[in-house]
Amino acid sequence: MRAGPELSVLASAADVADAAADLFVELARSSIERRGRFVVALAGGTTPAEMHRRLATAPRRDAVDWSRVHVFFGDERGVPPGDPERNDRGAREALLDHVPIPPLQIHPIPAERADGDVRYQQELRDTYDSFRIAGGERRRYPRLDLIVLGMGPDGHTASLFPGHELPDPDLWAQRVTDSPKPPAVRVTLTLPLINAAEAVAFVVTGAEKAPALAGVLHGDTALPAARVAPTHGRLVVLSDRAAYGG
Ligand code: 6PG
Repeated sequence: MRAGPELSVLASAADVADAAADLFVELARSSIERRGRFVVALAGGTTPAEMHRRLATAPRRDAVDWSRVHVFFGDERGVPPGDPERNDRGAREALLDHVPIPPLQIHPIPAERADGDVRYQQELRDTYDSFRIAGGERRRYPRLDLIVLGMGPDGHTASLFPGHELPDPDLWAQRVTDSPKPPAVRVTLTLPLINAAEAVAFVVTGAEKAPALAGVLHGDTALPAARVAPTHGRLVVLSDRAAYGG
């Protein structure tokens, strides 16, 4: 029986950002201590910005050995690098430009390219191959240490949208060309990859998300966010009272 989500309903969006930043630090420190690295996929959208800013500020900033951190992204919009709509641009402005992560350990998704999904899957594979000790097993899915996810009012997460199934279980990243949330073209991590993670954390705030969050917590699998169920890892849901319907 898979454990249910670790749900925290907090008073405000600021408290959610604090809790998310603290979880990041906790998991980063334990992962770096145990295996010398912390591989995280950051969420897109606007919600994570406050979490990112907190991580870029003392004392949290100084509690992480950023030289051991590898940053991927849960999804990316199909617009050119540097475009204000890019998820990685938001993460750089709020966090990545303010901490000493080696540049080659930041892995933006080349979603502006028609083969962006194929390239991203290869980059994930190359990164995990570089971790493998000689003769070590190659897993079907790499186990990221933390994947942070937002959620839309329709229950989408990353760029996995209701009614837009991405059926191929062997893909770790997939191109979307009909996203209901502009822009239409995106690249997203797939559910099997997300569910292979050691930990997945949702950050969900605002009353407009309350119906979808209720559906997710009641297991309405028509909602992609409800199908995030790590096969062996932790599932954490950080919500404010407004999104919890309080
Ligand atoms: C994107 C995001 C998307 C986002 C949700 C929530 O590219 O838009 O990856 O999945 O996380 O839509 O967005 P907000 O945090 O802005 O509400």
